[in-house]
Amino acid sequence: MSTIKHPAEPFKIKMVEPLNITTPEQRQKALEEAGYNPFLLKSNDVYIDLLTDSGTGAMSDNQWAGMMLGDEAYAGSRNYYNIVNAVQDIFNYKYVVPTHQGRGAEQVLFPLMLTPGQFVCSNFHFDTTKAHVELSGAKARNFMIAQATDTTTYYDFKGNFDIPALEAFIEEHGADSIAFFIMTVTNNSAGGQPVSMANMRDLKRVADKYGKKIVMDSARFAENAMFIKMREAGYENKSVKEIIREMYDMADVLTMSAKKDAIVNMGGMIAIKEDEEIFRGAQARCVPMEGFATYGGLSGRDMEALARGLYEGIDENFLAYRLGQIKYLGDKLMEIGVPIQYPTGGHAVFVDAKKILPHIPGDQFPAQALCNALYLESGVRPVEIGSFLLGRNPETGVQEEAPLELVRLTVPRRVYTQSHMDEIVEGFRKVMAKKDELVGFTFDYEPPVLRHFLARLRPLNK
Ligand code: F0G
Repeated sequence: MSTIKHPAEPFKIKMVEPLNITTPEQRQKALEEAGYNPFLLKSNDVYIDLLTDSGTGAMSDNQWAGMMLGDEAYAGSRNYYNIVNAVQDIFNYKYVVPTHQGRGAEQVLFPLMLTPGQFVCSNFHFDTTKAHVELSGAKARNFMIAQATDTTTYYDFKGNFDIPALEAFIEEHGADSIAFFIMTVTNNSAGGQPVSMANMRDLKRVADKYGKKIVMDSARFAENAMFIKMREAGYENKSVKEIIREMYDMADVLTMSAKKDAIVNMGGMIAIKEDEEIFRGAQARCVPMEGFATYGGLSGRDMEALARGLYEGIDENFLAYRLGQIKYLGDKLMEIGVPIQYPTGGHAVFVDAKKILPHIPGDQFPAQALCNALYLESGVRPVEIGSFLLGRNPETGVQEEAPLELVRLTVPRRVYTQSHMDEIVEGFRKVMAKKDELVGFTFDYEPPVLRHFLARLRPLNK
C-alpha cells in the first residue's frame, strides 16, 4: 500500500460542471484535427485539463457574492478601492493600476522603466514578459541557477536568481546598460520552483549597489511565500502574510497576473511601493491601452472578485492543500517510475520527457510526443515546455534544442480532486508501458511567430 497522502480539500463543492468522457477513437480523431497540437483541441474533447493554472481556477461563493456588488462606474469604482486596500494591506504598496491580465501590466509598465538597448535581467522571464521587454526595445537575459536544470537532485529553492552570474554580467557590460531586474515568484519556467528570502535579499543588495529597481513578477507570490514558510530557516513561525510583506519590501514595483494566485478567471495589475512618477506614468499609459486608470480593462465585478481572491489565495490552509496536492501528484508519478522535476513546484508537476523518450531527438519534440500520448491514453491535456516552445534561432533559422524537454501538468486551483490526480497517474502508467513505441513529430504548418499555439504537426511514422 502506498503511503503517499493527498491533503483533504479545505472546501466543499457547491456547484458542479460535468466532465466530458471520450473514447480513444474520438481522441485520436480530435488530435488529428488539432494537428497534434494540444492548444488546438476543443476543450469539450478534454477530460482533465492541465494546460495551465491561469484563469482556470474555481472562484468561491464569497467571490461570486462579491460579483453582485460590482460598481460599474467608469471612473472611481468602489471595487477598485477594494483592490487598493487589499494591496496596501497585503503587500504594503501604495499605488495600484489594474490591467486585464499580467501581460497588460508588462505592456504598460516596461517602457516607463527602460531605455531601448538596455538589458533587463531576471531569474527567468516568462514568455510574455520577455516579449514585452523586447517589444520595448530592450534585451532580456535570464540568470537561472545550475541546480534548476538538474531535475533529479533535491534543492529547496531551484527558482533562485544566480546572483554571482548577474554581478559578473553587470561588471562586464557596465551598470548603465542595465534597466532593472525582474524577480519571478515562483519561477514558472524552472518548474514553479520557489525563490528564497535570502536570494531576494541578495538581489536587493545588488540593486542598491548599482541604483536599480526590482520588479516582482507576482503571478504565484502566495505559493512562493508558503514555500519559504515551509523550507527556509527562521520563517517557520511567521505568517504567510508577514512573509509576503518582507518579500515585497525588497522590491519596488509588482506586476501581477491575478489569474493564478488571486484565483480569478481574468485580471491583473501593476502595484508600486512609493514611486509616484512610475505610478503617474503607468496611469497615463493604462488609459489608451487597457482602459481608464481605475478599471484597466476589468469590469467592477471582476475587480471585486480579484480583491477578495487576493485574501483567499494567501490563506495558509488553502496553500498547504495546494502545494500538498501538487506533491501528491509528483510523488505518485515517481512511484511508477516517471522522472519529474524534483521537488515539485507550486502549480505544476514537470515531467522530464528527455529521460522517458531518449530515442526522440529535440528537433522531433519528445515532450510534445509525450503530451499527445497522454491525451490519447487518458483525455488529459498537458502542455509542452521544451524545444517546440523554444523555437528556432532568429538569426540562423535552426531549431534550437532546449536544455530540458518538459511536460507540464498544470493544476488549476480548487478544481480537481484526488481521484482526478489518480486518473492522471493511471494515464501515465499506460503511456510508460508504450513509451518505446512513441515517435517524434514534424511540421505540417509552422507559423513564423508564436508557433507553439498555432502550429500543426504530423507523427513521423505517417
Ligand atoms: N508572468 C508569469 C510568471 C506567468 O506565468 C504568466 C502567465 C504571466 C506573467 C503573464 O500573465 O497570462 O495573465 O498575461 N502564465 C500562464 C501560464 C499563461 O500558463 O504559465 P497573463
